[in-house]
Amino acid sequence: MAVGRVARESLRVHILAATESLAAAGVAAPRYDAEELAAFLLETPRMRLGLHPLVESEWVETYRQLVARRASRIPLQHLTGTAVLGRAIVAVGPGVFIPRPETEVLVEWALTAIREIRAPVVVDLCSGTGAIALAIAVARPDAVVHAVERAPGALAWARRNIETHVAAGGTPIDLRGGDVIDQRLLTDLDGTVDLVTANPPYVPAGTPVEPEVGVHDPAEAVFAGPDGLDVIRPLISIAAGLLKPGGVLAMEHDDTHGETVPALLSARRVLADVADHDDLTGRPRFVTARRVTLPLR
Ligand SMILES: C[S@@+](CC[C@H](N)C(=O)[O-])C[C@H]1O[C@@H](n2cnc3c(N)ncnc32)[C@H](O)[C@@H]1O
Repeated sequence: MAVGRVARESLRVHILAATESLAAAGVAAPRYDAEELAAFLLETPRMRLGLHPLVESEWVETYRQLVARRASRIPLQHLTGTAVLGRAIVAVGPGVFIPRPETEVLVEWALTAIREIRAPVVVDLCSGTGAIALAIAVARPDAVVHAVERAPGALAWARRNIETHVAAGGTPIDLRGGDVIDQRLLTDLDGTVDLVTANPPYVPAGTPVEPEVGVHDPAEAVFAGPDGLDVIRPLISIAAGLLKPGGVLAMEHDDTHGETVPALLSARRVLADVADHDDLTGRPRFVTARRVTLPLR
């Protein structure tokens, strides 16, 4: 071999090998993850991997190590350090829930709902990384966005993501640390809000989940009591109190709650136009409603 020449290997071959090992480990989307990890290491978008047909042996070794970590069921986003929701890119890692593609349709619905409102007031409950609040703030720089999160670990990620957003010229977001069920936390906003969004914990306790969720998502971000409704039930009252007449709520729920959660909202006289919506995979995923003014008796 000529001195100084670096060995080059086929990227495609290594992506196929990685796909096989991820599939064998039970990873849900092995080809996608193998490509995403390669794209991450090559610092290129996944769709442009074709521009890198050959890789160096040293790169292959680093790639193999990364794939092995994914095969141990560490979430893809913990390895790349980011997740995307709408037009927001958020930093993620241990201690915070990873935003999911399931939430995309909720964000789209929410943005459409406030399309005609100038400087809408928005509250995102159970904000985690701040992903929904940020997706709205990025798309609507005129919006006045508030976000609430209880867990200190998640709050630190949300703070960091909001700081990054503001440093890039984005509008500041009012982040409040506390329990969404605490009546005192948001009283200054009562009756003033155009849009409440929420992706609360909603999985019934004891439901089997993938290792990426069971080991790496904080339990308090996922599970909510025996029927999964421990946070949703009181949150409906809080959201109804925040909304101004005509204001709307969009709240995610478990795919087994496509009838239960709309029924909880329909039981509230101040909420109308209750509708349930599917996610990108066609499963019941979020409910929406509008606040009405009750006639005086
Ligand atoms: C399913 S995660 C959603 C995070 C984020 N909204 C998203 O879509 O990526 C639920 C979040 O609610 C927070 N949470 C759970 N109970 C809460 C409560 N009572 N008050 C405030 N936050 C709560 C959890 O810490 C977690 O960050």
